[in-house]
Amino acid sequence: MNPAANVENKRILITGGASGIGAELALLLAQRGAKVMIADLSAENSEKTKKQASNHGTSLLTHAVDVSDAKSVKNLFAAAMQQLGGIDVVINNAGIDHDPAPMHELSDDDFDRNIAVNLKGVWHCMRAAIACMAPNGGGHVINVASVAGLRSSPMISAYSAAKHGVVGLTKSAAVEYARANIRFNAVCPSFVDTPMVQNTMAKLDERGRKALVKANPMKRLGKPDEIAGAMAWMCSDESSFMTGQTMVLDGGMLA
Ligand code: NAI
Repeated sequence: MNPAANVENKRILITGGASGIGAELALLLAQRGAKVMIADLSAENSEKTKKQASNHGTSLLTHAVDVSDAKSVKNLFAAAMQQLGGIDVVINNAGIDHDPAPMHELSDDDFDRNIAVNLKGVWHCMRAAIACMAPNGGGHVINVASVAGLRSSPMISAYSAAKHGVVGLTKSAAVEYARANIRFNAVCPSFVDTPMVQNTMAKLDERGRKALVKANPMKRLGKPDEIAGAMAWMCSDESSFMTGQTMVLDGGMLA
């Protein structure tokens, strides 16, 4: 018996799979025998992650995408259907943040870009996933939201609004498509040590960095492999009765 959640031969598409949480998950799933395509804005980082996989004796497919662009997403899903031979699981993980600012100082551009990538990007990919999965017996869509999608998040209101929207889309779709055997769940991490957060930390002074870490009951950031491990289980059939849920991975922040 395989002690790890079994994802062997699952066909899995991961947006934002070239970096951070997405890359960690892609490498783990490939190691466990899944067929994985990573889709990202950054061709350079996609190549690096692909090389990492091959250094571990596994392989990843890559595809360039901008999830905020409906046409680009349509092309991605056509390529994934063809190259993976179908899609069992879609991980909507591509995302951006914005510099912290009170709402009255946040620019319209920051707001619009966060909604375009973090919310509308997920919307585009959910709709494309449904179109691929409904005629083929179903599937599972896992959206990477955030604890910022579940509670107040001062100074990052655009990001928080987008992530609350992702949670709303997840719950609505879960009920709409349960009979079509398409499941929708969300993952809500707190701060995880990825390039996104390293970039945020670099803009803080020492006191700010310490405060950010101390705000977590575990007094540390999450590690990408702690998120990837839980998500790998979600990708397996062991999660088959789970839909419309938010899996909170936060070191106890929301407890
Ligand atoms: P990251 O910055 O390391 O990775 C994000 C990836 O998304 C990058 O490879 C980037 O090129 C890609 N991307 C950005 N815009 C894109 C677009 N328009 N189209 C396609 N790809 C695009 O960030 P990280 O931390 O791994 O974040 C992954 C997800 O997890 C994001 O949705 C983020 O909001 C979410 N998250 C992260 C947390 C953290 O503390 N790191 C906490 C909670 C949620």
